[in-house]
Amino acid sequence: MRFFYMQSTGFAGRVVGTAYAINRKPRTCLSRPRLSRLLLQTARRLERVQLECRPYEQVLRRFDREDTLFYCDPPYIGRRAYPRNFAPADYEKLAEQRSRLKARFIISINDHPVARSVFGRFTCRELPVRYSASPKSRRRVTELVFTNYDLRPADPPTIDWW
Ligand SMILES: C[S@@+](CC[C@H](N)C(=O)[O-])C[C@H]1O[C@@H](n2cnc3c(N)ncnc32)[C@H](O)[C@@H]1O
Repeated sequence: MRFFYMQSTGFAGRVVGTAYAINRKPRTCLSRPRLSRLLLQTARRLERVQLECRPYEQVLRRFDREDTLFYCDPPYIGRRAYPRNFAPADYEKLAEQRSRLKARFIISINDHPVARSVFGRFTCRELPVRYSASPKSRRRVTELVFTNYDLRPADPPTIDWW
């Protein structure tokens, strides 16, 4: 319940280090029907999900199979936004480990020369995304998506978070 409350009332949905999001209109996000529907949907979605909280190296080792797909969202290059950030050598290590996997993988990362150089051996696609909690924001940036398999040309390169 605390998570749902923080997620629904905190600025930009942040749960840690958040601030209360001021809203002049009545808040409907915590209405009883919506909340019970959300809890049910969440429970249903997580029914067959196993959550692991460990360094990514261990997760890769444990679940590397030909029929696995790893989606990796490492810390952004050049920003210190997380409790644990990556040094340039960590990206090299990540790329090395990826090369040895049996599984397919997807890595998404900010468009930075280090990313293009370190992950350059993989298939790359540029993805325009909007980096803001505000639906009105027009600020677009490019994310890079690297894979060790060919993405279908028909996949539209559009991810819009709203
Ligand atoms: C870009 S964020 C991922 C955000 C996540 N996809 C989400 O939606 O909340 C990168 C995350 O990687 C974590 N991280 C840093 N080093 C790690 C490691 N060795 N193993 C696993 N996670 C790590 C960071 O603490 C940070 O939370």
